[in-house]
Amino acid sequence: MSVLKAENITKVYGDKRGGLKVKALDKFNINVEKGEFVGVMGPSGSGKSTLLNILATIDTPSSGEIFINGTNISNLDDKKAALFRRNELGFIFQDFNLLDSLSIKENIILPLVMDKMKVSEIEKRVQSIAEILNIEKILEKRPYETSGGQQQRAACARALIHNPSLILADEPTGNLDSKAAEDVMESLEKLNRENEATIMMVTHDPFSASFCKRIIMIKDGKYFLEIVRGGNRQAFFKEIMDALTLIGGKNNDLA
Ligand SMILES: Nc1ncnc2c1ncn2[C@@H]1O[C@H](COP(=O)(O)OP(=O)(O)OP(=O)(O)O)[C@@H](O)[C@H]1O
Ligand SMILES: [Mg+2]
Repeated sequence: MSVLKAENITKVYGDKRGGLKVKALDKFNINVEKGEFVGVMGPSGSGKSTLLNILATIDTPSSGEIFINGTNISNLDDKKAALFRRNELGFIFQDFNLLDSLSIKENIILPLVMDKMKVSEIEKRVQSIAEILNIEKILEKRPYETSGGQQQRAACARALIHNPSLILADEPTGNLDSKAAEDVMESLEKLNRENEATIMMVTHDPFSASFCKRIIMIKDGKYFLEIVRGGNRQAFFKEIMDALTLIGGKNNDLA
């Protein structure tokens, strides 16, 4: 089953007042099936954030069509877009965006409380997801009393607790040291495997990318190439490094 299908999306910035136009996405196509874990990589300025913002219904394409879980999201009005985001999407950002005035648990369950879900069902869900992410012991703590890796795993729990059809992650390991990054990526891999969560993640980091099952590389707003993980993650990491060499871009993009 296709969770995401984008056809010929083009995004041109700056066409008002006759200013210089930038084509950030150029007839880009993507199809993501339920249960996939897809990484998006490419040099700085290649259109990754533009793509994610459009899929997140925060921005609209200049042309092309996007279907997420069967809904055409290309032209939703603001109210419909907000409702769509809340029901169908989950977000994980580079900085964890947890509220310091709430406990970790309250942060995670906030979307369900807003939806007035039954307390017993909320408890069941939070326990099950906390166990997968290994954050049971910090549920009553405040975010500032926990580590960056724990906060990001809590943010993963919050993104998934309402069972969205698609999770969009923008550099989820960008602010983490390598050990915490590994824990977060293992958690995402586990959520993908055990909960069949469909995940699309933008990253610069080949190590984090090696946890995905498929990587799409974009360059100058266009599809460049795609690699699929066979078995072993180490071998996939090497393939990703080779693809990044092929695509070029500044060295600091790979840091
Ligand atoms: N709001 C905007 N107005 C005008 N041009 C923009 C805007 N946002 C992005 N661009 C341009 O569109 C192109 C793609 O930008 P985008 O942010 O999608 O790249 P990216 O792949 O996310 O890069 P990075 O890896 O540096 O985050 C760039 O040339 C950028 O300068
Ligand atoms: Mg970006």
